[in-house]
Amino acid sequence: MKRAWIWLLIALPMVVVIGFFTLMLNDPGQRETRRAPTRTSGEALIGGPFTLVDQSGQTVTDADFHGRAMLIYFGYTYCPDVCPFSLQIMAAALDQLDPELRARIQPILITIDPERDTVEQLAQYVASPAFPDGLIGLTGTPEQIATVTTAYRVGFRRSDGETADDYTVDHTSIIYLMDSEGRFVDVFAHGADPQAMADRLQEFLEEEGSSS
Ligand code: NI
Repeated sequence: MKRAWIWLLIALPMVVVIGFFTLMLNDPGQRETRRAPTRTSGEALIGGPFTLVDQSGQTVTDADFHGRAMLIYFGYTYCPDVCPFSLQIMAAALDQLDPELRARIQPILITIDPERDTVEQLAQYVASPAFPDGLIGLTGTPEQIATVTTAYRVGFRRSDGETADDYTVDHTSIIYLMDSEGRFVDVFAHGADPQAMADRLQEFLEEEGSSS
């Protein structure tokens, strides 16, 4: 009986998250709708080690970010609207935090389009004043990107355009909050309210600050 409860605690958040992703992939219209942040709890199996390259060309791993919480978004620089919108919401939420709390969180964009998102392309993109200050862009080989997207259960699918270089990538639009040891904490759905996100970040950072 006890065992069954433990499995339920592990499985329930996963069902919620996977169900949510499935919904996003199957109904593109849903991606634009406003939703309250989705909360999950328990030991969700999201996240894991990665080795990628940042916008300055440095190879980095997940361990390089330990000591700070990570706010991770998966997208691509050629994305016409979904990614810029999400990164602006991230910026608006982070701007509402006290500077001491804000300093403990690292915003990160991981590309799902490594073929076009070169180091140079990412460097230019993450420098946009509309995006979070200090936003780090990560790219890598298609294999490295496959590893990290699988670990974070990110869904994406390329839609071919008229030429080989002209395509869009349909993708789930979720912001992941990971703690200062890289463990999954929470997700924010596409179109999350910046104030609600800021409140949740503040709650988490204060909790983490007082327990360490
Ligand atoms: Ni996008």
